[in-house]
Amino acid sequence: MIKRVFLCLLFLLPLLPQNSYSDVALRIITPVDKGYMQGGQTLSVVSKITENTFDSLQIYVDGRVQKNLKDINGKQYVCSVVNVHPGINRIMVSGIASDGAPSSSQVSVFIISPISAQNNTPPDGYTQYLFHSSSSTCFTCHQMEPQAADDTPAKHSDSSCYTCHKEITDRPYVHGPTAAWACLMCHDPKATPKYATLSPPEKMCEQCHGDQIGAWQKLKHQHGPFALGMCTTCHSPHGSDWPFWTRKFPTDLCLSCHVGQTGDHIITFFNGQPHPIRGKPDPRHPGQELSCASCHSPHASPYRFQLFADFGHLRHFCMGCHGSRIPF
Ligand code: HEC
Ligand code: HEC
Ligand code: HEC
Ligand code: HEC
Ligand code: HEC
Ligand code: HEC
Ligand code: HEC
Ligand code: HEC
Repeated sequence: MIKRVFLCLLFLLPLLPQNSYSDVALRIITPVDKGYMQGGQTLSVVSKITENTFDSLQIYVDGRVQKNLKDINGKQYVCSVVNVHPGINRIMVSGIASDGAPSSSQVSVFIISPISAQNNTPPDGYTQYLFHSSSSTCFTCHQMEPQAADDTPAKHSDSSCYTCHKEITDRPYVHGPTAAWACLMCHDPKATPKYATLSPPEKMCEQCHGDQIGAWQKLKHQHGPFALGMCTTCHSPHGSDWPFWTRKFPTDLCLSCHVGQTGDHIITFFNGQPHPIRGKPDPRHPGQELSCASCHSPHASPYRFQLFADFGHLRHFCMGCHGSRIPF
């Protein structure tokens, strides 16, 4: 009988909580495990060292080293920033303690992307990761409340947001108010949750782009997501790799919803090739690359399919780019 009970206990052992962290030398305290968040190209990773000391720590994202942190001997908190991507990111911090024992800690974070069909809803078991609304230990070393200088900081590093969010302006194209570190223009510290922005996003954009939005709203043919006020589905509010801080190159942006659309819908040439939709200069917008947005307004237009000119006049429309050299 006793033998049987013992055997049962043995089987139950793996089911007992494994991560009563007190006996682990190293632990990720930020971000939380199985959290999801909207957007975001970087994440702060803060580890707490409870026992032992480490000379260096490595941060892995999806199994690849992103950061190798040196000279941390004696530190209790180790702060860093990593790049993340839409979907699940597996973040691991590991190191060899001074007594030679390896130690590591791992969390998974899901980044939502509104324009990625596989990544626009978090998987089961993930809960929202809202950093500023939960209590944290950061304030012992960092300024955690907005300061007077944050409204219009003279230089970036004057913003109290800078230390933790400096990568946000590290992009080829950055939106005016973000570039100026006027973060509080959109993020209200008194909102619930803290720093929440207006919704739908159009309301937030309207504060500064009201005239433009008003003019588009008067036009007859409005694009679905524009009419719903979903500006931030296509535009990052901060910055991106493309002009107008679109979340992808316009053609790829359109294709993430209009899956499979090709240049065939414009014209198929005698050799069977479709009309180009990228990779050529845009004749109507000097300096830009041809894209779906060269012909269609992403917002609104007086013409069918939000085209830039009436398509009833086929030649007229084509000549908007081809001049009199129209090839048919
Ligand atoms: C034009 C309005 C606007 C400005 C200015 C702005 N934000 Fe945001 N921010 C947003 C919106 C909207 C979101 C919601 C997530 C999304 O749609 O990408 C967001 C999300 C975030 C997030 C979480 C996800 C992410 O993208 O990293 C952080 C962190 C953030 N903002 C920090 C800042 C900081 C720091 C500044 C100043 C340098 C700033 N924001 C300026 C509108 C703004
Ligand atoms: C024991 C003190 C201490 C604590 C606690 C602490 N930090 Fe830090 N943190 C620092 C120091 C020191 C720096 C480097 C100073 C600088 O770059 O301005 C830093 C830098 C950072 C950076 C920038 C890292 C980089 O690579 O640029 C981030 C992000 C950060 N901390 C986030 C946090 C967060 C989030 C918390 C709370 C979970 C936190 N820190 C708690 C001391 C601390
Ligand atoms: C001590 C570091 C620290 C400081 C200072 C800081 N943040 Fe954050 N913030 C974070 C961390 C950590 C997150 C979680 C996402 C990440 O890792 O980037 C976050 C997330 C956010 C988010 C997304 C919503 C949320 O609560 O998770 C917004 C918006 C934001 N910060 C705005 C600001 C603004 C505006 C300021 C300046 C007034 C600021 N932050 C100052 C560390 C900081
Ligand atoms: C606090 C004021 C403010 C808010 C709120 C704001 N913007 Fe802007 N925006 C500006 C300023 C200033 C410029 C001009 C400087 C520049 O090009 O960045 C600008 C420029 C732009 C441009 C480029 C326009 C051009 O013709 O070059 C786009 C696109 C844009 N914003 C999108 C948005 C979207 C989308 C939102 C809502 C998420 C938004 N903005 C909210 C102030 C704001
Ligand atoms: C379907 C995606 C999409 C949506 C939704 C969208 N935009 Fe745009 N927007 C774009 C693209 C792509 C460009 C660049 C090409 C162009 O100018 O047509 C652009 C350009 C802009 C510009 C600068 C060029 C111009 O025409 O003045 C502004 C300002 C702007 N958008 C603001 C907004 C605002 C505000 C909203 C929400 C009310 C919004 N956008 C919704 C995709 C979108
Ligand atoms: C977030 C998803 C989304 C994105 C991104 C998007 N669209 Fe759309 N689009 C829609 C929806 C929804 C409709 C309305 C449904 C319909 O009428 O078929 C629509 C309608 C259209 C129509 C009218 C179709 C018709 O039959 O009347 C055109 C043209 C169009 N989109 C072009 C574009 C272009 C060009 C881009 C890129 C600048 C783009 N869309 C990006 C969702 C999107
Ligand atoms: C060279 C100009 C041009 C470009 C570039 C272009 N379109 Fe079109 N698009 C048109 C014209 C013209 C029509 C009307 C076709 C018709 O009525 O037969 C149209 C119609 C549409 C329609 C509605 C009818 C349909 O076929 O479903 C959608 C949706 C659409 N385009 C999406 C896109 C997307 C997405 C891209 C980029 C991948 C794109 N277009 C690139 C000219 C263009
Ligand atoms: C937004 C501008 C734009 C519009 C509108 C447009 N095209 Fe084009 N088209 C281009 C560009 C750019 C190329 C690539 C030219 C090159 O290869 O240098 C091209 C190439 C072509 C070619 C291949 C031969 C050549 O000139 O290189 C044909 C044929 C063509 N277009 C027909 C049409 C027809 C028919 C229409 C109207 C339904 C039309 N296009 C509307 C921009 C446009």
